[in-house]
Amino acid sequence: MSQAPAHAPSPSVLGLMARSLLSRNSPNRVQVARTWGRLWRYHSRALWGLSSRICEKADLQRIESLAREMAPVLQRDPECAAKYADYAFWIPFNVNRVGSLGLHQSRPLRILDIGCGPGYFLAAAAACGHDCYGIDAPATVMTPVEQRTYSELLAALSLRDRVSPLLIERFRPLALAQRDLDLITAFWICFNRHQQPDEWGVAEWQFFVQDAMTYLREGGVLHLELNSNLTRYHSLEWYDQATLEFFRSAGTVDRNLVRISKGNSREWQPPQNPAQARTG
Ligand SMILES: C[S@@+](CC[C@H](N)C(=O)[O-])C[C@H]1O[C@@H](n2cnc3c(N)ncnc32)[C@H](O)[C@@H]1O
Repeated sequence: MSQAPAHAPSPSVLGLMARSLLSRNSPNRVQVARTWGRLWRYHSRALWGLSSRICEKADLQRIESLAREMAPVLQRDPECAAKYADYAFWIPFNVNRVGSLGLHQSRPLRILDIGCGPGYFLAAAAACGHDCYGIDAPATVMTPVEQRTYSELLAALSLRDRVSPLLIERFRPLALAQRDLDLITAFWICFNRHQQPDEWGVAEWQFFVQDAMTYLREGGVLHLELNSNLTRYHSLEWYDQATLEFFRSAGTVDRNLVRISKGNSREWQPPQNPAQARTG
């Protein structure tokens, strides 16, 4: 990534696309092209302009400096948290998440993102006018690379005051500061001990869902995007049979996407059949 000159203008959508395609650290080109292609399909000017709006508010020089610092780390481990320093990829990626939930078209909502990591989804939702909060594991349980990357990105996206440390553990209530939420999201979930020998089963998920529901207002929605674990779940990929049946009894399941609503109010609901989310 090239160093942004002081007071550089915020990149346009086309500029971001080109920068991401040309970046040495960017995920592969096909993925980048798909991300932009999906964004185009929403036919929404509000969404197309959102990436530029997020960039205008963000401290891009700080992110670019982080990217330079993390370049050797990323070379050794392309999948580690340092990958999030490539904002030209991750901003449009998270604008897609906003689009798939219809957040660019809804009234202002109170949103909590669990395991928010670098905060790109919060930044994208906040740029649409939503009141956004995040929680993530405390720094003490993160790797040094996660700590550095997430704290720098949250600061660069002006989200430090919006994100609280909270370690999610099996059968432990969430103890959130926020209530009456319209939407709780969790993308690429790892708090379920993903790929650990004790990855959550149906009992843990039942407890978590029941507890999370108490923080939603009537009609609110819990939106989960599970990470793939083919070795453990084989053809079911994201859950065992009992957990799948539980999710289906509580809400809707579309591959890795699980959506559970509180009560019957349909005052606000995300659209069905959102663009399929890649797990990662
Ligand atoms: C794969 S990253 C996904 C980050 C972000 N949600 C996204 O999709 O870009 C998983 C996130 O979950 C957080 N996490 C993992 N275990 C957790 C736990 N037990 N409690 C809270 N957060 C956790 C990590 O710190 C990290 O930010």
